[in-house]
Amino acid sequence: MRKEGILENGRIENGVFYPPAEILEKANAKADIYELAKKDRLGFWDTQAKELVSWFKSYDKVLDDSNAPFYKWFVNGKLNMSYNCIDRHVKSDRRNKAAIIYESEIGKQVCLTYGMLYKLVNKFANALSGLGVKKGDRVVLYMPMIPEAAIAMLACTRIGAPHSLVFGGFSPDSLRDRINDCQAKVLITSDGNFRRGKPFPLKNNADKAMEDTPSIEKCVVVKNAGNEIDFVEGRDVWYHDLMAKAGNYYEPEPMDAEDMLFILYTSGTTGKPKGVVHTTGGYLVQIQSTLKYVFDIKEDDVYWCTADIGWITGHSYVVYAPLALGSTTFMYDGTIDYPDKDRIWEMAERYGVTKFYTAPTAIRTFMKWGVEYPKRHDLSAIKILGSVGEAINPEAWMWYYENIGGGQAPIMDTWWQTETGAFMCTPLPITPLKPGTATYPFPGIELDIIDEQKNPADEGYLVVKSPWPAMLRTVYGDDQRYIDTYWKHFGDCYFAGDGAKRDELGYIWVTGRVDDVLNVSGHRLGTAEVESALDECEEVAESAVVGKKHAVKGEAIHAFVILKDGFTGNAELIDKLRRHVGVKIGPIARPDDIVFISELPKTRSGKIMRRLLRDLAEGRAIGDVTTLADPGAINEIAATYLGKED
Ligand code: PRX
Repeated sequence: MRKEGILENGRIENGVFYPPAEILEKANAKADIYELAKKDRLGFWDTQAKELVSWFKSYDKVLDDSNAPFYKWFVNGKLNMSYNCIDRHVKSDRRNKAAIIYESEIGKQVCLTYGMLYKLVNKFANALSGLGVKKGDRVVLYMPMIPEAAIAMLACTRIGAPHSLVFGGFSPDSLRDRINDCQAKVLITSDGNFRRGKPFPLKNNADKAMEDTPSIEKCVVVKNAGNEIDFVEGRDVWYHDLMAKAGNYYEPEPMDAEDMLFILYTSGTTGKPKGVVHTTGGYLVQIQSTLKYVFDIKEDDVYWCTADIGWITGHSYVVYAPLALGSTTFMYDGTIDYPDKDRIWEMAERYGVTKFYTAPTAIRTFMKWGVEYPKRHDLSAIKILGSVGEAINPEAWMWYYENIGGGQAPIMDTWWQTETGAFMCTPLPITPLKPGTATYPFPGIELDIIDEQKNPADEGYLVVKSPWPAMLRTVYGDDQRYIDTYWKHFGDCYFAGDGAKRDELGYIWVTGRVDDVLNVSGHRLGTAEVESALDECEEVAESAVVGKKHAVKGEAIHAFVILKDGFTGNAELIDKLRRHVGVKIGPIARPDDIVFISELPKTRSGKIMRRLLRDLAEGRAIGDVTTLADPGAINEIAATYLGKED
C-alpha cells in the first residue's frame, strides 16, 4: 500500500527524511493533493488548467482519447505561450519584477523585468515575422545560455512558429541533420560564447552546417562573445540590426491547445535522433503545475535550474514554467569552475537563490572538489533542492542535502524525459524522502511497474498507464515511429525505456535504461548513433558501444571495435576514432575507451549482446552465454580482454 502524504516533523527515522515543519506549513501542496487527484484524475487536470493558464478561449473537453495514442488535451482551447509567460504578468503587479537574471562566465550581468522582456519578445516576434516566419514555420536555435535564447523561444511561440533548439555542444553535422529533418526556414545563433575565458565559435559551426541545409533562408546572429565571424550577405542578419528597426507590439497568435509548440530531438535506439513533438495547452498546464508544487514556487523566489536550454529541462524548467508562473529564473552561461570551483555557490549567494535544481553528475563533481567550496558561501536562502537526469546515488544525495541544503532543504528527485515534457515521478516538499528514489508519481499521473507479461511487478519496466497533459504527441514527420517506439511494447501503456523497482513504502526507484540508450553526465545518447559514427571510419569493420559505470559521469562510453584486415589498433587510431565521433556528433559523444577485439558476442539472430560487453567493460566475469551464437568466441575474448584491463 502506498502511504502518500505522511506528514511529520523534520526528522530522520529509519533512513526516511521527514520534511521540516516550516516547509510543511507553507507548502503549496496540501496533504490531500494525492487523494483529490486519485478520486478524479481528469478533474485534477481540469482544475490545474483553469487555475494556471490564461485561455483566449476555454476548452470543450479535458481529454479526447478516441484516437489513441494520438491523444488530445484541452480540446478546442485557444491560448498563446508567450502571452502566458509575459503579457499577463505585465498587466499585473509583476510588471517590474525580475523575470530573467543572467550572468555570463566573464561576469556580464543582465536583469530583465517582465516589462522589459515583453518589449524584447514583441520586437523579436516582429523581426522574425519580417523575415517571413509565419505560424507553423520551423525555426532552429543553436544558442548559448543567453537571455536572447529565451527571447527567441518566446518570440517563436508568440508567432506560433515551432522552434527546435539544438544544444550548442552538438557538432555541425548534428545541427545540419536536425535542420534538414524539420526543414527549418530560419536559424538563430550567436557569434560565440565564453568557455573557460575563451570564445567558443558557435557561428563557425552553424556556417558548416548551413553548407547543406537548403531550407534555411535566413540566419539571425546575436553578437555575444565579439569573436570574428564570417557573414554571408543576403543570408545572415544581425539580431541587433533587426531589433533596432522592429515594431513594439506583435499580436500573440491564438494557438489551438494541440498546435505544435516545439520539436526537440532526442536519442533513441536507432542512429537517427527523433524529433519529439510537444503541443501547447497540455504542456503549459503540466509544467506549471509540477513546478508550482514540486519546487513550491513563491512570489519572492530566485529559482535556478542549471540545465542548458538545449535540453528539455531547459525548455520546461529554465524558460517556460518559471516564466508562466511569474517567477524569477536565473541563467548562467559558462563553466562551473571558472574562475574557481566555487563559481556556482558564489553566484547562488550573491543572487540569493532560493530554489536550486541540478544533475547528479554535477553534484558528484562538486563532491570530488570538496566541501570547502560551498563552505565559502552563505547558502541559507536555499529552501528546496532538485535533481534530474539520472537516479541520484545516495552518497551524492546526502552530500547535497548536508552541504548545499544545510540539512533544511528537501531534495526533489524528479524522474521524467524529453518525451514526458514535465515531471512524472517526484516527491513533493511534503513527501518523506529516501535518498535515491523519485518516490511517487506526481498527482494525476499513473505509473506502474510491470513484467514482460504486462503483470504488475515489484521490479520490471516503468510504464505510464494513462495519457498525461505534457506528453509528446508524435515523432516529427513519423507517426509510425511514435507508435512503434513508445506504444507497441506493452499494448496501451507508454513504455519509457527505463527499468524500476518498488519498495515496501511504495516508492519507485528508477534503475536506469533497459534499452540501448546511454546516459552520460545526464546527456542522452543512443549506442547506435555512436556506433554509426565509428563505422564510418575506413579502418572500422564493426563496432559496439556500451555504457560503463563512471564515478562522476554516471556512465562513460566504452566502445568495442573490430578493425578491417590490414589495420592495426594503436593509440593513434584510438585518438583518430575518438576525434571522429566528436566531430560527427559532438564532444559529449567521444568514447572514453576504445578497445579492439576480434569478434563481437552475438545471439543466433545476430543481435549484439551488450549485457556481456558491459560485463567485460566493467571488468566482471561474463554472465550467461547460452543464447550466444558462438559461446566459445566470447570466452576467448574475455580471456584476452579481461587480462588486458586494469
Ligand atoms: O533514464 C531516465 C533518466 O533520463 C532519461 C530521460 O533523458 P532525457 O530525455 O534526456 O531527459 C532528461 C531530463 C528530464 C530517463 O529515461 N532520468 C532522468 N531523470 C531521472 C532519470 N533516471 C532516474 N531518476 C531521475 N530522476
